[in-house]
Amino acid sequence: MSVIAVVGAQWGDEGKGRVVDYLAEEADLVVRYGGGNNAGHTVVNRYGHFKLHLIPSGIFYPATRNLLGNGVVINPPALVGELDGLAAAGFAADNLFISDRAHLVMPYHVLIDQLEERERGVARLGTTSRGIGPAYVDKIARRGLRVVDLLEPDAFRERLAAAVDRARRIATGYFGAGGADDDLRETIEAATDAERIGAEYLAAGERLRGHVVDGHAMVDEALARGDRILLEGQLGTMRDIDWGTYPYVTSSSPIPGGASLGAGLPAVAIDRVIGVAKAYTTAVGAGPFPTELEDADGHALRDRGQEYGTSTGRPRRCGWYDAVAVRFSVRLAGYSSIALTKLDVLDGFDRIRLAACYRDPENGREWRTIPASTSVYGRLAPIYEEMPGWSRDTSACRSWEQLPEAARQYVTRLEELGGVPISHVSVGPERGQMIVRDGR
Ligand code: GDP
Ligand code: IMO
Ligand code: MG
Repeated sequence: MSVIAVVGAQWGDEGKGRVVDYLAEEADLVVRYGGGNNAGHTVVNRYGHFKLHLIPSGIFYPATRNLLGNGVVINPPALVGELDGLAAAGFAADNLFISDRAHLVMPYHVLIDQLEERERGVARLGTTSRGIGPAYVDKIARRGLRVVDLLEPDAFRERLAAAVDRARRIATGYFGAGGADDDLRETIEAATDAERIGAEYLAAGERLRGHVVDGHAMVDEALARGDRILLEGQLGTMRDIDWGTYPYVTSSSPIPGGASLGAGLPAVAIDRVIGVAKAYTTAVGAGPFPTELEDADGHALRDRGQEYGTSTGRPRRCGWYDAVAVRFSVRLAGYSSIALTKLDVLDGFDRIRLAACYRDPENGREWRTIPASTSVYGRLAPIYEEMPGWSRDTSACRSWEQLPEAARQYVTRLEELGGVPISHVSVGPERGQMIVRDGR
């Protein structure tokens, strides 16, 4: 298997960074294919505890190249900050490469993200406020600035002046923001100050210049050599722009189709797709989430799983495993297998629930897939199956046989409901806390 895509099978934060860090030991190239610094991918290994936002999770293997693909949107000062953080931990990150076709997240994207959320009021999406949506809007509207532009300062300044002028008119005109008593007034000024932004971004561009490559050429050559390539996803299917709980979604495609597009390789080059799913469910941000728990079980999942957003620190919404959502993801993404994470967090529950289907309380209809309508999805109630829990600590288990019988039954049931093998079971955040199942 030479090209493996690692894709989130739920609402994000499934442990993609942890799984990529584990698999990257055998990879020559890791490519992040979408999203921006809205991502928070946690990697715990012998060097420490790292929260990566843009930098791919294979960065800790010096012989593995790590590429930010064309499908990623990059905030250059944020990337420089992340590189500084790695440098402080002793990583020069000479193995980081950046596609020259990747788009830039600009300060006015962050501003517009905030203004749009403010305008939505109670209907806000709960974005990460990192400017991700507006950056993709500009990309699709064909007015985005790209990494390659950072390397041509005069042209960059010219295009920036026009972009900033437009952003100011949108902020003050359309949104009517920036008045004397507006708490975003200073933010608007800073986010539309072409002089300051030009200096900051071009300085970041100089710092990043040595990392910038023709991403397609890098991937194409790796394919021709038969290199082992990992494609690292951001977020998960339920936040996919086409297939997620629209409009409570991100602005890119976490599914493998997005990987082909955002890494720059033919779709048929992907040999294997590993879906990453948590042994329960979490979400950050608004929108339907049928198995959400607000009771003691929900609090227990949050406490034991340390479920707080890596990028924003927001408490994650927690609930039981949603087999309908994962099955939907399996069908869309075509997983070869699933890596199940955080099984250890379920240690000590007397009984564990999982949603096998939903029921619409208005008409009694049973649902085994995800409706397009947010209002329908929002009212569906999960129909739970209940399974016995286990009291033993699983975090030291390193083989399938060492897991408690009830834990194996639970994983086997998830496998049946997903219709796809569970090849990896993670029982802790550290690199070695992984059970790999033979023949899957
Ligand atoms: P990502 O965005 O999909 O990369 O996931 P995050 O890093 O945002 O969230 C996953 C969290 O769970 C991180 O804090 C990981 O260190 C942690 N984690 C991953 N796998 C396991 C596991 O098997 N058990 C436990 N207890 N924690 C895990
Ligand atoms: P990783 O890669 C969890 C959520 C936000 C919001 C929606 C849109 O770590 O799984 P955006 O800022 O992308 O416009 O927000 O998506 N969201 C995430 N939730 N983990 C993430 O990244 C997320 N990135 C965005 O909370 O609901
Ligand atoms: Mg995350």
